[in-house]
Amino acid sequence: MEATEKEKISVEDEAVDKTIFRDCSKIAFYRRQKQQLSKNPTYQALLDAVTTEPDRTSFQIVSEATKVPLRVEVYGIEKNIFRLKINEETPLKPRYEVPDVITSKLGTVRMVSCSGDAGSLILTDEKGDLKCHISANPFKIDLVSQDETVLSINSLGQLYFEHLQVPHKQRATKGNQESVPADSSQENQEDLGLWEETFGKFVDVKANGPSSVGLDFSFHGFEYLYGIPQHAESHQLKNTGDGDAYRLYNLDVYGYQIHDKMGIYGSVPYLLAHKQGRTVAVFWLNASETLVEINTEPAVEYVLTQMGPAAAKQKVRCQTDVHWMSESGIIDVFLLTGPTPSDIFKQYSSLTGTQAMPPLFSLGYHQCRWNYEDEQDVKEVDAGFDEHDIPYDVMWLDIEHTEDKKYFTWDKKRFANPKRMQELLRSKRRKLVVISDPHIKVDPDYSVYAKAKEQGFFVKNPEGGDFEGICWPGLSSYLDFTNPKVREWYSSLFAFPVYQGSTDILFIWNDMNEPSVFRGPELTMQKNAVHYGNWEHRELHNIYGFYQQMATAEGLIQRSKGKERPFVLSRSFFAGSQKYGAVWTGDNTAEWNYLKISIPMLLTLSVSGISFCGADVGGFIGNPEAELLVRWYQAGAYQPFFRGHATMNTKRREPWLFGEEYTRLIREAIRERYTLLPYLYSLFYQVHMSSDPVMRPLWVEFPDDVETFGVDDEYMLGSALLVHPVTEPQTTMASVFLPGSNEVRAITDISYGKVQPAAFTYYAKTSTLSLEKLSLSIADDWEVHIR
Ligand code: GLC
Repeated sequence: MEATEKEKISVEDEAVDKTIFRDCSKIAFYRRQKQQLSKNPTYQALLDAVTTEPDRTSFQIVSEATKVPLRVEVYGIEKNIFRLKINEETPLKPRYEVPDVITSKLGTVRMVSCSGDAGSLILTDEKGDLKCHISANPFKIDLVSQDETVLSINSLGQLYFEHLQVPHKQRATKGNQESVPADSSQENQEDLGLWEETFGKFVDVKANGPSSVGLDFSFHGFEYLYGIPQHAESHQLKNTGDGDAYRLYNLDVYGYQIHDKMGIYGSVPYLLAHKQGRTVAVFWLNASETLVEINTEPAVEYVLTQMGPAAAKQKVRCQTDVHWMSESGIIDVFLLTGPTPSDIFKQYSSLTGTQAMPPLFSLGYHQCRWNYEDEQDVKEVDAGFDEHDIPYDVMWLDIEHTEDKKYFTWDKKRFANPKRMQELLRSKRRKLVVISDPHIKVDPDYSVYAKAKEQGFFVKNPEGGDFEGICWPGLSSYLDFTNPKVREWYSSLFAFPVYQGSTDILFIWNDMNEPSVFRGPELTMQKNAVHYGNWEHRELHNIYGFYQQMATAEGLIQRSKGKERPFVLSRSFFAGSQKYGAVWTGDNTAEWNYLKISIPMLLTLSVSGISFCGADVGGFIGNPEAELLVRWYQAGAYQPFFRGHATMNTKRREPWLFGEEYTRLIREAIRERYTLLPYLYSLFYQVHMSSDPVMRPLWVEFPDDVETFGVDDEYMLGSALLVHPVTEPQTTMASVFLPGSNEVRAITDISYGKVQPAAFTYYAKTSTLSLEKLSLSIADDWEVHIR
């Protein structure tokens, strides 16, 4: 079965068809949680039987409704982090706990319990800075720092935990007299999707039944929240209305809609909250489909009228409530207590690792297109850069470079001599990146397929055979990267003698790794596909792509015998993906608003640990007019990963194809990037070593300046450079906000094509950054930089 041209076009050429994807109303675990929570169920903690071990304190909680006991474990972790785990005391079988994300054995801190009153328990670290107040009935936890309650857990009573049950059929045959769960009366109600859930023509049969979890967190005094990528949304998280939530579910959404909370390619279930004087964060370690609701109650002043004419005023602090819901797994959550943004970045990277230090070349400009047709095309494009005196470092080859989309092979006609092509690039100290997707063409004569099949390395279908779905090559099976043996084997495929035609200037791009399955539900893998360890796909969907990038990076490290840093770009990602390389924002469109949204999207990734990120310059889908292309190059030059890319049916758009003037402008933007390389490379060293992101929202650098908290049309690159890209057509003046300065706005003339247009970067005078620049004294603390 081949992926027909028509199918490709329907997948690749139309604006996003939202009916392909589910919204909250079509997600059964969301409906179940809403329905049950409306009955106000409560949990009670049994604090008279607390177990204390060196690294944890634990106790049981029981819900009034189900009476099924859950075990709560509270850990103190070095760097002012708490971990809270909630699982069934005796599940029918183990529930999925996300492996391989938390870096190494965490340093735990002994917590001492101070006596609370009868119905409570107070845990504190030895310094006593942080206290964890646990209330028994109803069960709730408050995190208190210096007598201020920063965060409350389950204060809204949204703790939800579906315990595993014996399927009805088995109960009958076994004559099993088990206690019937309180929600069993719903089992016939198909719309609650307990054992089976339908979406369009797709039926998800759930062998393990319902297993969803949920919990609420209230941030006291916090109005500004960030994180939980990836969404095409503003940097500051928005309130979610009824039936609306930020969805974390990795999906291939071609031409995704802007200002939308639907899940796209990657997920980091990590949310930060910031106010003057404190930043805190919650890391919800769960790889199944997840929904996040946000509700901010702004600060209000009440006038207490019953007190007569001398009415007293009472100021009520704002509060933001966040409700996490996941389809499966356990509740495993890390509470990071800051207090500064920089502390938060360190705390998060102590859990998930820091950004990998990229090889220097990968910070240069990358030239990509689906597809550079053949060796001759590559030669000409490469020569074009020299001819037009435009620097670039990396040439990219998309799927058509292979023989029938069989990765690790070369199309014999188009790329007859891949080594010769690489030698040409090498002679100019340039590199090549080629694509390698996770789907493997079903073809017994294709050695990668045959070997993987023989060793049982593919994801399985529920019947035990290899899962098969349609992707670029037609019928394909999908490598099960969650299996360490598969990863080891996949890594070995990058060894030079194995990967024919590869040399040490060839690096890798992992795409379609959500994974994308053309005729699958929501264009991905069915949730009851089966992985290593007999885990269903639903348990780990969001971490699939993470594992492919991990295995690829490891393969590149091994082929150089541990000497060279790898470069791997991945479309899908999870918490911790920063350890393995770069990510990009997928299939964007050549429109001004996609240029504009790239800034908040990258800022959100950056504060979520993933500094090495970028958006396709020019917009992947459609044809940018010359002005948009120039503005995109100018913006991209100041973003961490800088690659021009375009889909197959677009007009060619190499930088010199739009006439002399535009070529000059693009040349200047790319050169500016190269001027900045030493600075950028140093920033990557800084994020690698001490976790401060490369691209920083203003609030990170000016954490006490409330005016910066909602800004996402400009940002800091490191602590020295402020960048305000132009994202509107025919802009002649830009109003740039200069935080912390006496004169807070600079009106800068950036008339397009009239004067030098890239006048939107500012140096902090206090910085030691020394680059050749023209300075205009426009404010006390800033110098405008016009090239
Ligand atoms: C996906 C990628 C895109 C790539 C194409 C063909 O749409 O997001 O970047 O060019 O597949 O491989």
